[in-house]
Amino acid sequence: MESFWIDSIKNNIEFDTLNEDKETDICIVGAGIFGLTCAYYLSNLGYHVTVLEKYEIGEKTTGHSTAKITSQHGLFYDYLIQSYGEKYAKDYLEANEKAIKNIKQIIDKEKIECDFEYQNNYVYTTKPEEVRAIKKEVLALEQIGFQNCDFVTKTGLPFEIAGAICFKKQAQFNPMKYVMGLAKNVVSNNGEIYTNTTVTDVKNEDGLYVVNTENNKVKSKYVIIASHYPFINFPGFYFAKMYQSTSYVIAVDTKKTLFNGMYINFTNPIFSYRTAKWNEKEILLVAGGDHKTGQPTAYQDSYGILEKEVKKYYPDCDIISKWSTRDCIPIDKIPYVGAYSNIMPNMYVGTGFKKWGMSSSNVAANIIVDNIIGKTNKYAYLFDSTRLKPIKNRDEMKNMIVQSTNSLFLDKIKKPNMKFEEIKNNSGGIIEVNSEKIGIYKNENGKIYAVKPVCTHLGCLLSWNDVEKTWDCPCHGSRFNYEGKNIYDPAFRDLEIYNLDT
Ligand code: FES
Repeated sequence: MESFWIDSIKNNIEFDTLNEDKETDICIVGAGIFGLTCAYYLSNLGYHVTVLEKYEIGEKTTGHSTAKITSQHGLFYDYLIQSYGEKYAKDYLEANEKAIKNIKQIIDKEKIECDFEYQNNYVYTTKPEEVRAIKKEVLALEQIGFQNCDFVTKTGLPFEIAGAICFKKQAQFNPMKYVMGLAKNVVSNNGEIYTNTTVTDVKNEDGLYVVNTENNKVKSKYVIIASHYPFINFPGFYFAKMYQSTSYVIAVDTKKTLFNGMYINFTNPIFSYRTAKWNEKEILLVAGGDHKTGQPTAYQDSYGILEKEVKKYYPDCDIISKWSTRDCIPIDKIPYVGAYSNIMPNMYVGTGFKKWGMSSSNVAANIIVDNIIGKTNKYAYLFDSTRLKPIKNRDEMKNMIVQSTNSLFLDKIKKPNMKFEEIKNNSGGIIEVNSEKIGIYKNENGKIYAVKPVCTHLGCLLSWNDVEKTWDCPCHGSRFNYEGKNIYDPAFRDLEIYNLDT
């Protein structure tokens, strides 16, 4: 199951793995859209940047997103006014509107061919009883003086809606073509990018940072952690402030003329729609099936629900590809951007962009760059990464604590609920042998793969994901394939495996 964004740039440009020690001005850990946007701006300012990426460029979150560039982050502005006040909501909106313009400016200046197009963005409902929430959001936007939106009852969608709020002149693009364009520019500015290079820790030595990889080190004055989920646990404590959410995307050849606009509803089941270009054809992307990463899900609740929905309107459609994605969700719903921690000067972070990383990553990159060059950024206060304000979203907080505690402690003493012979081919589960938990996956032919199902981040018990054949962590969302190889952070080490041949 592969994202067609990633397919669209295969063999486009190749990077080396780091194989010697380096010194640089700024070391950036992570080559997704946020890391590469920082690298782009900083290398254009004359800094020498070195970017270290565990996988390939954009291969994780960026290459699996729906790539809507918008300041409309669900029904969010009424929440912001209620929680943080009018000025805060207005600045948040302005920062994200500016990000759309910044991205367009980069694309024009660097002539990046990435299928960028302006589109209106809609948050809609098909349920009359939910129209009130949309109208409340319209009023909130009026209150902060936003002219660029309307309440509408008609859209291009192939079904009737009860109401929607439309943000005009938002945008969509191919995120992989965009990040490749950024990367090329970084390299032409003498920046260095290394892929398949895993950072294991960052240490401060005599006022400089030493970023250690598995075999080498990079010394720099500044470090930017752009690795999706920050992997340094102490200080920072990001593991206590965010969880990961999984959602699913299908790319569909509808064989019909499609509509304009990007769409998402706001209560479960969530469905998100946008069009995209594929081999000169216009296709439809449908996303949804959201759940907390690590919670068990079934095919019918993930890809299945999307396929069923799209076939209602396009019965003759073909599914071209499907993929899942993970997003970091801060408990108070606000990204963390700025200093990694108060006790680590010159080390920065940008994370927790929720489902809206295309615009938020540009906002974040500008804040970090301004910080490094000593310029005031009027939006920096919005995302203060060291904030210690009381968490407003108490339900989310409680939920996360209960789930982490369950997984860290209670699940370890509970009896596993599977016996070896109960695990069917092409499926997995946890069994117990001599009081030891073992994660078993049997492939289609009955070949057995056995791992220690304990997360290498902070030790939570993993759960088997039968849709994607992976071991997922319910605490902070790390994932491992059935062979135990780490495929998603914040963990970066592979699982212990049991050799069944001996
Ligand atoms: Fe934190 Fe697994 S991701 S314990």
